[in-house]
Amino acid sequence: MNRSIAILGAQWGDEGKGKIVDLLTKNCDAVVRFQGGHNAGHTLVVDNETTILHLIPSGILHKDVKCIIGNGVVLSLDALSEEINILKTNKINIEGRLLMSDNCPLILPVHIALDKARELKKGKAKIGTTGRGIGPAYEDKISRRGIRLGDISNSETLLEKIEELLDYHNYILKNYYKSDTFDALQMFDQLNNQYNSYKDYIIDVPNYIESLFSQNKRIVFEGAQGTLLDIDHGTYPFVTSSNTTVGGIFTGSGVSPKRLDYTLAIVKAYTTRVGSGPFMTELFDINGKLLSDRGHEYGATTGRQRRCGWLDLVALKRSIIINGYSGICLTKLDVLDEFETIKICIEYKNNKPIYKEYKGWKENISKVKKYDDLPENARKYIEDIQKYLDVPIDIISNGPGREQNIIVRKFF
Ligand code: IMP
Repeated sequence: MNRSIAILGAQWGDEGKGKIVDLLTKNCDAVVRFQGGHNAGHTLVVDNETTILHLIPSGILHKDVKCIIGNGVVLSLDALSEEINILKTNKINIEGRLLMSDNCPLILPVHIALDKARELKKGKAKIGTTGRGIGPAYEDKISRRGIRLGDISNSETLLEKIEELLDYHNYILKNYYKSDTFDALQMFDQLNNQYNSYKDYIIDVPNYIESLFSQNKRIVFEGAQGTLLDIDHGTYPFVTSSNTTVGGIFTGSGVSPKRLDYTLAIVKAYTTRVGSGPFMTELFDINGKLLSDRGHEYGATTGRQRRCGWLDLVALKRSIIINGYSGICLTKLDVLDEFETIKICIEYKNNKPIYKEYKGWKENISKVKKYDDLPENARKYIEDIQKYLDVPIDIISNGPGREQNIIVRKFF
């Protein structure tokens, strides 16, 4: 039995990680986020109620699970308070369950302004960011001028830090982007007010995680975005600003690699991407439209329509090399129910995708519970993917609901 599982997006994000994190955290003690920020969008459907989380780990809906935000996450206190309010309205208790690192770099309003101003200036060449200030906040972390959650506790040095940060950014905002600047005192007051609400949530995350392991507790590490959006390994520069791949878990939470037992790749049965950048198997025809309509392919964070295409096994092979997945969860298989023919890209030739064609199964699989009850053509599709990738497909998700899964292997 595993004591720790990492759940990572294997494509460009939006593979359906939130649902699987929710499913697996049901039997675990803690869930840890280690990168990204409120650019993520995890849609959870429980008893026909939809909850969309951006920042707080998806395990929060299970009442005994601890939800930990590691140092690798860039933290917007405004986004945090919005999400806490939604959870409180839904009568979900977070006290003593939501825990975070004082080393989290803060996303400040100035980062959001910079993110938006940059995208505007780039025009057609824009990255298509979520506009949440993610990139500028990570830049400040790396440049060592960022403000971290723990910095707020020292009001003597905080104002100085804010002034230094704003000195730099206000100059660029005013002179280069010709846009509004930010006031240091106002930011200082706001951070101090917010800190009082959150200071009791702060813990030493590496120590806390280690103590959970020494008590034989089970932990899920919840990835955000996907491998192809990784700052180092993704389709740069059309990427996010964090390490979405397996290495991000260790640097972004302080857990040791020795502690990770199993890495689950979340793979959508086709491909989607939001924002700009290369997309080899993108469809511009009726099939793309059908994928988008049947898969409700609109971003959970920005509401933008996602670009859709066939499954790309070449890109997935790359994802496997980098992350060393133990198993795969194939999601949204039911979206393919109505297709006459389904294609999978098996290689690139002259910069073009080469496809293998499959006959569709043309029946509703959303209520299937056992692998053997899937139509033969669906099993053929799954088994070919598994054979090519040489990684076992351990879960199949066949609908948005919590219970719509075919579990091939037990995890906890
Ligand atoms: P940023 O993370 O807001 O800087 O955006 C950089 C790129 O990552 C853009 O193409 C976004 O659309 C993409 N991105 C960020 N978060 C997500 C996500 O949760 N799912 C899918 N794409 C994302």
